Amino acid sequence: MSRGRFLKSIAAASAGFTLPGYLAEALAITPTVTEGPYYPLADDIPLDKDNDLVQLNDNLTLAAGEIETISGTIYDANGQPVRGALVELWHADREGDYLYSTGVGRNADCDANFAGFGQFLTGKSGQFKFRTIKAGLYTGRARHFHWGITLPGEDVRTTTQTGWNETAYDLNGNRFATQNSNDNIFSTVSDATLRAAMLLDFTPVEGTTTGETAASWDYFSGTTPSEPTYPGGSLLVAPAGVVAGPNGTERFRLQIPAYPDYCYEVYANPTLADLDWKVLPFALEASEAFDRHQHIATEEGLLEIYVAAPPERGFYKVSYREPGANTGTPSGGGGGPGGPGGPR
Ligand SMILES: [Fe+2]
Repeated sequence: MSRGRFLKSIAAASAGFTLPGYLAEALAITPTVTEGPYYPLADDIPLDKDNDLVQLNDNLTLAAGEIETISGTIYDANGQPVRGALVELWHADREGDYLYSTGVGRNADCDANFAGFGQFLTGKSGQFKFRTIKAGLYTGRARHFHWGITLPGEDVRTTTQTGWNETAYDLNGNRFATQNSNDNIFSTVSDATLRAAMLLDFTPVEGTTTGETAASWDYFSGTTPSEPTYPGGSLLVAPAGVVAGPNGTERFRLQIPAYPDYCYEVYANPTLADLDWKVLPFALEASEAFDRHQHIATEEGLLEIYVAAPPERGFYKVSYREPGANTGTPSGGGGGPGGPGGPR
């Protein structure tokens, strides 16, 4: 049993558990590796950024590729599940093209039905889940997912990557030149146990007809989240009232105390299950279209946000980031392991 799975089974067996000190000390912190250049640009974070990368908006056509589900738990330095952690996933499409790789808008070579990027805000169990496709290969890298993890109270995402425990073959069935053993990211993780924990086994999901596979991956942070204070943290709960929308529709209005340059996003959970938090598109006026998923306030005061989905038990979660935090600008073009040039 892996350490991650062991921790999870303890977590499931006893709510509010605390790890004995010696075990907490023995926690293997997930290695941090470079963000790479293809985190969505600040102006181009896609409107569809929920935890399903396979289906873009309500499209009937799904992304090309093998469907994979990945789920796990975010743990803090004490081995406690982290509530309110922002988990971000982005990766190449089936053919190895990223959603944003050109620096200007969406990459025309990327599968038009692939979301390319997703976010998940953890509930009290610390669990996250994504549905996506198996990442495609591109020159110079072993197959990989990119991850960003932001704990409550943090204003910079910590980045890491996961790969596949496999011998990789390209779409023509040829053995790929770059494997995990000579990849310039995975091969730099010298601790064999930590490296092995980054290379995942996806196994077939019973009862699916599409060849879907699943893997679990837990993230062990080396830090402990600070209790958010507002402004300056990451999460608040907001009630909403019904108001009239355009053409006889109803919509829901949230009123949030806002501060200049803070960035706001809204999440709802239709079932209140931990794995069901979804980011919501919203409007800033009662009559406008739901055309954005984040808003940076320009002044202090009451910010009104309009959403379509009714609140469950009367509230939504509003995630907010400090000025300049996680703006989506690639962080300094690497700085991590690996040679200069070439995509990561
Ligand atoms: Fe990459």
